[in-house]
Amino acid sequence: MQHPGDGGDDRAWTPGPQPPTPAKLWGGRFASGASPDAEAFTASIRFDHRLWPYDVIGSAAHCRMLARQRIISATDAGQILAGLAKVADELRDGALDLSPSWEDVHTRVEGRLREIVGEPAARLHTARSRNDQVALDLRMFARDALLDELDAVIAVERALLTLAGNHIETVMPGYTHLQRAQPVTFAHHLLAYVEMFARDAERLLDCYRRTDVMPLGSGALAGVGYAIDRDYTARLLCFSSISANSIDAVSDRDFVVEHLAALALAAAHLSRFAEELVLWSSAEFGFIDIDEAFTTGSSIMPQKKNPDVAELVRGKAGRAYGNLIAVLTVLKGLPLAYNRDLQEDKEALFDGVDTATGCLRILASTVQAMRPRTDRLATAAEADFATATDYADYLAKRGLPFREAHAVVGKLVRECETRGCALSDLSLDELRRASELFGADVVGLAARAAVANRDVPGGAAPRRVAAAHAEAEARLEWLSGEVARRRDQLLALDRLLTDPLEEP
Ligand code: ARG
Repeated sequence: MQHPGDGGDDRAWTPGPQPPTPAKLWGGRFASGASPDAEAFTASIRFDHRLWPYDVIGSAAHCRMLARQRIISATDAGQILAGLAKVADELRDGALDLSPSWEDVHTRVEGRLREIVGEPAARLHTARSRNDQVALDLRMFARDALLDELDAVIAVERALLTLAGNHIETVMPGYTHLQRAQPVTFAHHLLAYVEMFARDAERLLDCYRRTDVMPLGSGALAGVGYAIDRDYTARLLCFSSISANSIDAVSDRDFVVEHLAALALAAAHLSRFAEELVLWSSAEFGFIDIDEAFTTGSSIMPQKKNPDVAELVRGKAGRAYGNLIAVLTVLKGLPLAYNRDLQEDKEALFDGVDTATGCLRILASTVQAMRPRTDRLATAAEADFATATDYADYLAKRGLPFREAHAVVGKLVRECETRGCALSDLSLDELRRASELFGADVVGLAARAAVANRDVPGGAAPRRVAAAHAEAEARLEWLSGEVARRRDQLLALDRLLTDPLEEP
């Protein structure tokens, strides 16, 4: 099942036929009800309406379980399922009023069901509380969201791997302290990000495991007094396991925190890459051209082509961290079990999900359309003594202790600097004046040779990079398969509204 749309659309209340007030769902205790201010303040429907697909499907599974356990009749269950299907259609069409008087998505779905099927609908909430219901809905949302995020991470990795595959031999300067350090290849640099995103994907997949736990049956906090079958409900909803402790299950939002933590770290990676795109596309570097589809102009300077997409991806890390800190702070010091504070988990999670998938998707397209300027990369790779380490290595391999070799080449660099030339401009005689160990084969040492020298696993040598590239592609294939398998399972959940009821 797909969560609806781009989300975050805080759908404004659209006036419609007036529903019975939600208080009628459980209004016995109250004489008049909450003040309009308190109602508006506590209502979550403005944002949690986004959970409706999960609320409907979760309710369908609960209803099927109740019927199978003979807690409600098959006739009632049949009517409830048909009613839920109708509510889903109406919600999909945007035909339902989502005013704050409905409080939250759960009351809205059940309230509408009551209008459609009447009395049987009032049996749906048997052996269920909104506390385990909201935990279920949010976990179902989070499963879908994790798969969306994984797909988006995969798209970024694919784009990087495609680009890297064309530039296994393209030399460029590698940096430390943002100073040219040693030559690497463009592919090797891009594959560094592939590694980061691969770890992000691993974290998301790992988070999926702990999200994929079914809390229904925990009731308000203590479990329920009916002979329910939690495993059956879990099977219907494709959960791998059921929660072990009812108190924990209704108050646990660890799966939200670790989800947002994984996204926060992914946002850090995205931000680092975006920063490099900004640097590389500047005139100062001139390493890449960002396609104009991912840039914007200036309102005053006609010549400008600004990397705004990359800048915003860089900037959105702030939101990602903020959402994580928000939920951690909500949880701090909360007594067990459910407290209304927990309602504050949703906007943070929704925004975290939207921000991350948005950044990942736009970055994948940006990478697909960007072009490295290989001439500029090559020139920069040769400049500023980026091969100095290789000269020192040359001497060390001929027996000079590395520290001494380092000093010899350091002096040569200083000499070149005063003369305004490169190490590769030095003749054999000039080199030999610094050390007898220099031979003809080192004269004119180019960045390409320096790169080829780094022939260790994980190193910049093209043959190693090609192997790493192949490995990353295989890993990505495996990951796509894992995501697709889970996606197919979740997409099939819609059948819970229409499949015939199982015999008790
Ligand atoms: N809107 C609520 C939330 O998001 C649903 C659970 C309400 N439970 C309660 N006991 N008031 O947390």
